Order: sequence, then C-alpha cells, then structure tokens
Amino acid sequence: MQNKKTSKRKEKKELVADWSSLIRVFIRPENEASKNILVKYMRPILFGLHDFLNQHVGVTRKVSLKDMSTCFTNSIINEQPEKNLDSLITDLIENIAPHAVNIASPYFVGHMTSAIPFFMVHLKTIVTALNQNVVKLETSKIVSVLERQVLAKMHRLLYRQEDSFYDENIQNPNTTLGCFVEDGTLANLTALWAARDNLFAPREGFEGVEREGILAAYNAYGIKRCVVLVSRLGHLSIRKAGGLLGLGNKNIIPVDVDNNNRIKLDSLNNIIKDIKENEKNTKILAIVGIAGTTETGTVDPLEELGNICAENKIHYHIDAAWGGPTIMSKKYKGLLKGLKLADSITIDGHKQLYMPMTCGMVYFKDSRYMDAVAYHSTYINRPGSVDLGIKSIAGSREANSIILDSALKIMGTQGYALLIEHGIETAAEFAQEIKNRPDFQLITEPQLNIITYRICPLRIQQKLAEAIPEQRKAINQRLNEITRIIQILQREAGKSFVSRTTLISENNLQEEIVVFRCVIMNPLTDITILGKVLDEQKKIYKMILPEDRL
Ligand SMILES: Cc1ncc(COP(=O)(O)O)c(C=O)c1O
Repeated sequence: MQNKKTSKRKEKKELVADWSSLIRVFIRPENEASKNILVKYMRPILFGLHDFLNQHVGVTRKVSLKDMSTCFTNSIINEQPEKNLDSLITDLIENIAPHAVNIASPYFVGHMTSAIPFFMVHLKTIVTALNQNVVKLETSKIVSVLERQVLAKMHRLLYRQEDSFYDENIQNPNTTLGCFVEDGTLANLTALWAARDNLFAPREGFEGVEREGILAAYNAYGIKRCVVLVSRLGHLSIRKAGGLLGLGNKNIIPVDVDNNNRIKLDSLNNIIKDIKENEKNTKILAIVGIAGTTETGTVDPLEELGNICAENKIHYHIDAAWGGPTIMSKKYKGLLKGLKLADSITIDGHKQLYMPMTCGMVYFKDSRYMDAVAYHSTYINRPGSVDLGIKSIAGSREANSIILDSALKIMGTQGYALLIEHGIETAAEFAQEIKNRPDFQLITEPQLNIITYRICPLRIQQKLAEAIPEQRKAINQRLNEITRIIQILQREAGKSFVSRTTLISENNLQEEIVVFRCVIMNPLTDITILGKVLDEQKKIYKMILPEDRL
C-alpha cells in the first residue's frame, strides 16, 4: 500500500521522544516542514476532499480487503516515535485516504452516510481545537447553555409547544428537553431507558428499577415480563436496548407490516388486546413508531399509533433517526403527521442533518421525564447544576451542539428542506425510471428517499405472476442469488455503490426477497447518475447470465 514516492522517502534523522520536542507539540507544529505540510493538506481538507478523492477513486479502489489486511499485521507500538508529523500526514493523505470509501461520491447511494457540506470540517476542527467536555459546566461553560438552547430549538421544531413552555425550560437546570448521545442506537436506548425507569418508578417498599434492578421491579409491580412493540422493520438498536435494559431482546415483539411496509394497526391492536386479556403478567413498556425505516424509508402511521398509545397509556417512542428532518420541508412535513404525539423522539444529526460522524439526539415531550435517569456525584453533576452529564448515558462528551447550532444557522430550515426535497423527488424519479426499464422490478415505492428494487426481466415478472407457489419460490431463490452476486460485483468494481437487504414478500408465502437498496441523500446524485448505476447493474447481469437463462 505504500506508494513508491513515500517508501523512498526515508526518515532522515532518528526520531526520539524527548521532553523538549514533546512540549513543542502542545504549542505548535514541530518545525517549518511540518507546518508547511499541515497547511498544504489542510487546504484540500478544509475545502473538501472531493477533488482529491475524485482523482484517486470512484467509490473505492479495486484492492481487496484481504490484500489490504496483509499490510496491517504489526501489533507492536514502538518505544521511540516512528514518524514525524509531516511524514505521518503525508502517509494518511496519500496512503490511507484513497483506500477509504469515498462516501461523498454521488455514485455512493447505498447507505445513510453521504457527503457533508465542506463547512462541517471547519466546525469539527473548531470543536476539536476547543476540546470542551460537556459532561460538566466546569469544562464547557458557555457550551452548556448553548447546548440547552439548541436542544430547545430542535424540540420546538419537533413538538411545537407554546412560547411559555420554552421560556420555562430552555435554561432551567432542573428540566431536560433532550440530550445529545453518540448515535441513533444510544438515542433509542436512552428513550427506552427513561421509559423503563418511569414505568418502574419507586413505590412503597421499592426504590425504583434503576436502583433495585429488573427482577425486583417485576416483583414490585407483580409482573413477569415487559415487552416493546415495533414493526418488524424496526432498527436492531431496539433489540439491543431490550438486551441492555434487562428486558431480554426476545421481548421486543415484531409487528407485521402492510404492503407499504408500515406497521399493521390491526395486528398491533390484536397483540395489545391479547396481552391485556390473556397475559396479566406482561406489561407493555413502549410502542415504537418509525419515521423512515432503515431498509425501505417508510413512515409508520404516526398519528394512529399516538392515539393507540394514549388510549392504552403506553409510552410512545418515535424512531425518527432517519426521517425526522423531513419536518423542515413545508412540502413533505405532512408525512410525519402525529410526530408531536410522541413521548420521545430519536434524531440522528449525522444522517439527514448532514453533520459529521456522529451525533445522536433524543427528545422528550415532558421536560421532567429524564429525572428518572439522573445521576449525581460529589465532584461533578451535583443536584441543581447545569452539568449536562446528569442525565446522559455518556460521561465525557464533545461539543456537538456547536456544530448543530452553527449548521442550523448556516442552512436555515429552508436549506435543509431543499436537501430533503431533492432526496424525496429524486427517489420518485428513480422509481419511475426503474418501472420504465423492462429488466428491473421496483420492490418498494419510495415514501421518503430510500428505494428497493431488483433485476427481474418482464418475462420473469409475468412468469412469477402465473406461477404456483413452489415455482414462485424457486424463481425468487434464483433471483435472490443473482441480486446478491450483482451487488457484490458492483461494489467490488468500485465505481458505484448500492447496498442490499432482504425483505419479506407481501404475499402469503412470506418469502425472502433480496433487493438492491438505494439511499438518495447526496444533492449531487441525480437521475442521470442513477441511470448509470442501473446500466452497470444490467451489464453485470448480462455478464453473469449471457444467455439470459433465468
Ligand atoms: C431508523 C433507524 N434508527 C436507528 C438507527 C441507528 O442509528 P446509528 O447507526 O446512528 O446508531 C438507524 C441507523 O441506520 C436507523 O435507520
């Protein structure tokens, strides 16, 4: 992996870790050469790696992971320095960056990770340079109040409460509108953690689940099991939360979805009814609605779910990690109707808020809801302080709020709306393109900006429609195999990237259907590029099946 230029460039003088060179590192680059290298590379980094990456890679370079791994087999940390700053930065830029994934490429349309505006690199650099620790006021000061403000801005966007609500809560150290966490996984965990602790709150003879544990909680509340209901397209983080919170992840009950991949309300109601009537020892901790499922981007009927939760007095969590920012689009915010009914909402900044990795957030309708998960100690996070670590899973934490607040100021809701609308409208255009091409079959109509499809020539589609169940199953198995191979070959070719997943067919057979999954969030991705992605898939298909004998 070392290119010729750098392998020739031998370290001239022996490097030694001594006190004086160490101290210099804390003040400025170690020498003029290092400074020049930093400035040389900071320019393309600050103004976007695009040009640099485009010269070197499409989406990935055609080097196998296995070959790469042979260059990474050294497990020894040297006692003395191996490299100085300038050769290290050169190495990262010339030897590591070109082999990373160019997620900024408009041909990278496979995951919920994409290009970010170039100014995010500046904002991240400022956060790193300040290196505040928002676990406590003493290491963050103004950032603690800035964080409360931006949490209130986001809360208002999602919940649209009265001015007086925000006046009362925005800088109130005793209340919490939400919190920053590492990612969507921890946001979902935090929401269910708070829900669990509110459900099993202290009562006579019981000090609460957080203190006494899940077994004591079940005993105190006279139950044997606690469940969470979510569509079977729920993100795996909900199951992780089930494990971590002591509920057991088999108690995260998957609910059927309809033809549009939205949770089936009659199935949900039946499960609730069944538990109420026949399982007196079971409690429903929460119902989770999804605003943008990971695999198909569909939005559950949020309003109806809210009404079911209210009727049955169940905590209502909405996982809007993906689709939440749609609320900023006047054109499409109707898709999230009912969002404000949620007791808690997950949002991911590193998804459709286009922030750098990573920024999860969770918001609560009730500003006292997180009291149940508060922790104090004598040296930080004392009761009544503004320390933001009091109610967060994380201890030390970077000042992501600076990035979010700045991005919201730079973009405005209108800026984000334009990005969201581009994604939704390009996905709709792409769906039409797929329908127009006789070799492709659209599997899910996009509601937001995620679309699934496969190669399935019209002739085979007709055959499938007429086939008896066994034949149908056999054809689908063959198609699954082909989709898998095409996806791998396209990924390995490195020009473009579409992911794949397995959906359960909507017919009675409940068959597994392997599909291409395309996530359109890069504003530079357009229908021409997507057409080329389809052309490439068709070419691979023709290559692996030259006679079209499916
Ligand atoms: C709907 C949904 N929720 C939660 C998550 C978890 O987010 P993260 O990867 O940031 O932990 C994802 C990630 O894809 C998601 O799509």
